[in-house]
Parts: sequence; C-alpha cells; structure tokens
Amino acid sequence: MEIDRRLFLAGAAGTALASQAQAAAKRAPVAAAPATPVPVNPVVRQRADAQVFRHTDGWYYMTGSVPEYDRLVLRRARTLAGLTTAKEAVLWRHEASGPMSGFLWAPELHLIDGKWIMYFAAGPSGGGEDVFRIRTYAVVCDGKDPMTGKWSVLGKLKSPFDGFCLNSTSFVHRGVRYFCWAEREPGIETNSNIYLAPLKTPLTLAAKPARLTVPTLDWEVRGFKVAEAPALLARNGKLFLTYSASATDDRYCLGMLTARDDADIMDPGNWTKSPVPVFVSSDVTKVYGPGHNSFTTDEQGRDVLVYHGRDYKAIKGDPLFDPNRHTRVQRLYYREDGTPDFGIPVGNGAVPDRFSPANAKGQFLRHDGDRVVVGRGNIPSSQFRSVPLAGGAVALVAVDAPDKALTVKTDGSVVLAPLSQWTAFLRQRVGKDEVRFAVAGRPGQYLLHRGGALLVGVQDRAFPPSTNFRVS
Ligand code: AHR
Repeated sequence: MEIDRRLFLAGAAGTALASQAQAAAKRAPVAAAPATPVPVNPVVRQRADAQVFRHTDGWYYMTGSVPEYDRLVLRRARTLAGLTTAKEAVLWRHEASGPMSGFLWAPELHLIDGKWIMYFAAGPSGGGEDVFRIRTYAVVCDGKDPMTGKWSVLGKLKSPFDGFCLNSTSFVHRGVRYFCWAEREPGIETNSNIYLAPLKTPLTLAAKPARLTVPTLDWEVRGFKVAEAPALLARNGKLFLTYSASATDDRYCLGMLTARDDADIMDPGNWTKSPVPVFVSSDVTKVYGPGHNSFTTDEQGRDVLVYHGRDYKAIKGDPLFDPNRHTRVQRLYYREDGTPDFGIPVGNGAVPDRFSPANAKGQFLRHDGDRVVVGRGNIPSSQFRSVPLAGGAVALVAVDAPDKALTVKTDGSVVLAPLSQWTAFLRQRVGKDEVRFAVAGRPGQYLLHRGGALLVGVQDRAFPPSTNFRVS
C-alpha cells in the first residue's frame, strides 16, 4: 500500500491533528512516486471559454479568451493539473486595423488534415466600425508544433448569414468533419442560435447549415437571447451537444441537445433539447455563470467537463469586461440510461472524488443530511474533496456542504460534522483505482462499508475488503 500523497497545497490543520497524522504517517509504508497530481480549481485564472483536449502526442492543449481579448494564446502540459503553471505562448495578435483589429474571442485549436488550425471570433476595433461586428476566422500554423510554429491568417468562415458569428467548434462524426457554431440569423430576433454543417474545406461549408436550436426558453433568454458555445460529447450511442445560454453573468448556464449517434444529425428534428439547463450557478459552492464548456478526459481516461465560472455573483459593469471567468474542471458522471449528469459546479479547491465500496458496486459513499451512508443518490451528495492536512492526512469535505467533513464519533459511527470536528484520514492507494482510509491516531482502524452502513473498524478477511473504495 502506499499513501496516496497528493500534491496539494498544505491545508490548515490543528497541531493535534497534525501530530496524530504524522505519527500515523511514520507507521505507513513510505509513499512511492506521487499519483497523478490532482487539478485544483480554478485551474487557470482569467481564461474564459476554455478549450482543453488531450492530443495523441500526450499533451493537454488549452486555449481560451484572455481578458484583453487582444491575442490568441495556447499552453500545454502533460497533466491537467500541469495546465495551471504551464507556459503560455501567444500565437497571433489582433491586427492594427480592419475587421480583425478588435475583440478576439473563444479560440479553438483543431488538427485538420495534418494542419493545426485555430478558429476564433474577431471584430473591428471601432474607428466608426461596430466593434460587435463579430465574424469567425481561422489562423493556421506552418509547422508540426503549434507552440513554436508560425501562425498566419487562413481566412474567414463563409457563412450564408453574414451575421454576428462566434464560438465555433469542429468534430468528426461517422467519417464526416462537421462545423458547429453560434450565429445571428436574419429574421430571427436572438443574439445567436446554434448551427451545424459538414465542412468542405476548413472555412467553407459542404451543405446548407441546419439550425439546431434557437433560444426561446426562459433560462435561455435571461438578459440576452443566447445559444452559443456548442461542444460535442459522443458517449453511449448518443451525441450530446451542450451549449451556453443567457447573459454572461450568473444567469449563464449550459443547455443540452441529444441525438442518437446513428441519426441524421443534420435533421434538427433528430435533436432533443433538455427542457431545463443541465449546469447552473451554485450559491453552495460559490461558482457563478458556469458555461462555455469543452470536454476532455483525465490521465485515467475518465470524462472531464471543462468550463469557466466566476467565484462571485455580483458583477460591476458589463460582465463581458469582468476578467474573472476562470477555467475550471470536474469529472463528468452518467446516469443509468447513459446520459451525462453534470451535477453542480464543484467550487474552488482540489477536484473531488466519488468513492464506491469495493463490496457494493454501483453504490457510493454519500451523505443524507448529516448521516453518512452508502447507496445511490444525486451526484453532489457523493462528491468529497480530500482537503490536505499537515503530515499527509486528509479531511473528506462534502462538496455540497463545504462547511462539513466526515467525522468519526467515539462509538465508531461516521457522520458529517462541522469542519472543526473533522477526522484526519490517511488516504492509501490499495490498487489501480482503489483507496482505503486509515483513521489517523487509531492504529489499524479504517473506514469500512458493511451492509449499507459506513463505520470504523479493523480490516476483516472478507473479499473484496470492506475497507476498499473505488475512486471515480
Ligand atoms: O468571452 C467572449 C465571448 O462572450 C464568447 O465568445 C462568448 O461565448 C461569450 O458570450
């Protein structure tokens, strides 16, 4: 076994707890190389509209809008957590004058027919021109390495509407490369709708665009009538197309369209819109305006939602010029029918985990009020953040009750109690994706699952061990 020493920042902890944990740590085997570093939200400050993807070269690439909206940037790291400190290259800056001399918004990097292409939205810089005359363009890299190659303008998207055009993405489905973007269509009184079309070349469409959704529901038209920032996730025989809706303040949220992956996706009738938003602001975790997402996978291949969000609700002035839409990540989970369940934005701090007892497949350690149980339930009640304590121990803090943590009572029962009473645990890796929790200061005592109850006791000889929890 080894302690799963996570590269967290040292958390605050009482000295008593620290000495207990240090004593317990001394008895535990010396940790091998640390596990993959855990991303800590916000992963990258002041990068909105983030696109993160893991390329076949093993790098995570990340781009996004900068607060100044004046340049296209790119960073890469070998781990998601590494993006926080990764060096950022400037690929291209807005021009001195003309249609691409103003705002640069929502870049996305794609490798198309062996060429690195970055799509983005741009507008003029004024001088009598409407700075919101935003259109979609692309730059192209002259080399194999997008971080060091020379980038130049490839051109402008030829869209049939010539309207406010932004937030494009591209994906390959059943061998066809598609382009999906947000645009204002003449005759439809919205800021933008979502369109889809196969590509003939990187900037020309191979067919008349299909209009997939127009913002009409109340949660789509708060402040502005917006459907923008499409992102595609293909899983479980379906295509899930998320998009962002409403004004870019705390009312900004994610909607989702779903289609079977064997359907004609150019037929809007084959897409079903969720009647409610799938991801919204949370006063509990203090993340506001979550949106403009992308999807990737973590180092263990688990699905990850990438999005931006502020950690305050009230904005002074125009939200568009508030710089604190930070990039955030969290794992994405699925319902039994295979559809994604986005849960809630998990808030600042290390990305949380869910713990499924090795002897209760499909069930999770979760809380129901202050009761700690094992069973099924909503995602947030089963997400726990391993908050570091000095000496390599952790406290297990509830994501949807961030003022409470798992606490072992003197009778050995486990409850959720205020942070001041938390119990220090030694998180020990006992398998590829399994951990156990030794109770600091109680030699040989572990969290156990027995018959739906979570308790503390000595490891028994049952198989699978009642102490082991699969991490997801
Ligand atoms: O972040 C700049 C723009 O504002 C993005 O392109 C859009 O998604 C948002 O509304």
